Order: sequence, then C-alpha cells, then structure tokens
Amino acid sequence: MRRKLVIGNWKMHGSNLLVQELLGSLKVGLDEAGNVEVGVCPTTLHLAAASETLIGSQIKLGAQNANAHTSGAFTGEVAAEMLPEYGVSYCLVGHSERRELFLEDDTQVAEKFASLQKAGLTPVLCVGESLDQREQESTEQVILAQVEAVLDKVGVQAFVNAVIAYEPIWAIGTGMTATPAQAQAVHELIRQHVAARDVGVAKNLRIIYGGSVKSSNAAELFGQADIDGGLVGGASLSAEEFIVICKSADSK
Ligand code: PGA
Repeated sequence: MRRKLVIGNWKMHGSNLLVQELLGSLKVGLDEAGNVEVGVCPTTLHLAAASETLIGSQIKLGAQNANAHTSGAFTGEVAAEMLPEYGVSYCLVGHSERRELFLEDDTQVAEKFASLQKAGLTPVLCVGESLDQREQESTEQVILAQVEAVLDKVGVQAFVNAVIAYEPIWAIGTGMTATPAQAQAVHELIRQHVAARDVGVAKNLRIIYGGSVKSSNAAELFGQADIDGGLVGGASLSAEEFIVICKSADSK
C-alpha cells in the first residue's frame, strides 16, 4: 500500500515571517492529518529557519533545487550534499520551471537525481508536457522520454527511493487543472513503463500530481487509482487551503 504524499512547493516566495506563520499553522492544523505524509519546499534561504520551526513535527522538509557537483567553483549554487544538514528529506528535480527558464536538460536532470540519492535524499522527479505537445498528441512520448532519461542513468532500483511528480505544464499556475481522468491516464502510463523494468518497484512507486491542485479538486484527483498525492504550488502558501488538501489525501 502506497502512503499518500502531499508536498508544498513554495517556489520563490517567502520570508522568515512566512516560515513562522505558515509552518506554525500547518504544525497545528496537520496534527491529525492521519496517514498522509506531508512535506514543504521553501526556498534554499529559508531551509534553516523552516527546519528549526518544524522541530517536533511530522512535516518533512524539501529543497527545490540542488547542484549535482559535490563542491567547487559554482558561484551561487548549493550542492545536494549540503542539504541533509538542514534536515532536508526530499528535493525537487526537473521541475518545468527549471527546464524552461534555466534550460536544464534531461542529462542534467538525471545527474541531479543521482547526486541527490548519493546525498541520502529522496528525489521528486517532475515530468510534464506543454500544451502544444498535448495538442499534438505527443504527451505519452514526452513523458516517457523524460522518465527514461533518468531510468537509463540510475537504473530502476533507484526508484525504490524516489517520487515522480506528473505536472502538465499547461496546468501549472494557470488554474487549468488536468481532469482526474487525464491525470490518471498519464500516471498509469508512467507506472506501466516502470513496471516493464520491475513490477515491484512500480507497485510501490509514489506518483503524485501537480498543476493547480486546490482544496476544491484535490479529493477527486487523489481518489484516482494511480495518483498518490500532490505537488502543490500556489495553494501551499495558504495554510487553510493546504491543510484541506493534505487532509483530503487521507481518506483516499
Ligand atoms: P501550482 O504549481 O499548484 O501553482 O499550479 C505546481 C508546481 O509547479 O509544482
């Protein structure tokens, strides 16, 4: 049985005050979230404060990005190896904003994935198609190529300790959520693809959905057979919204 997982991606939002207030509210509000695993990914700058604030809480901490090198002359970067010291458990990799705005390609994504695991972190591999690609009916091909690039580099066993987030680019921050059926179809496709390499790994692999998840659509999305939770952007900045989203994963 896969445990549901909901992760908040704060993107480039936040302040020490937000860390205190938002995480303070989540700690109280998610006390009874039951059997859902909850994580938050603040900016790298706020990881230390978030880690302090989360002491004594079940809520896990994630980073949004890390460099694949262990150290060196990479001005402005943070290595995966530096994150565990701040109590970080997960790290996003391959988010469409990193792919599109920072030109990260499949090779870099696979390298980052490997370095995160080497550092003892759980990579959350994000994959997703653009609206154009969906309209051209190449969703399947795009998603599988993104998954395959990482599978090829690290092997299927590496997915024992990894999460995949399916995030259609056209649904991110647009309010245009994929329908539960659209999302389920892609999640099933990803699971079958992994199963072709290893049935056991595929069965236990958590595949979460991201793209305009809100309190009003979370329960239906999380109720789909292959949707194991969500990666939540905008709505994770509101304690009220995020708590409802996390709780709606519990009964599913
Ligand atoms: P959104 O973002 O929930 O604001 O659409 C999701 C994400 O980019 O992870």
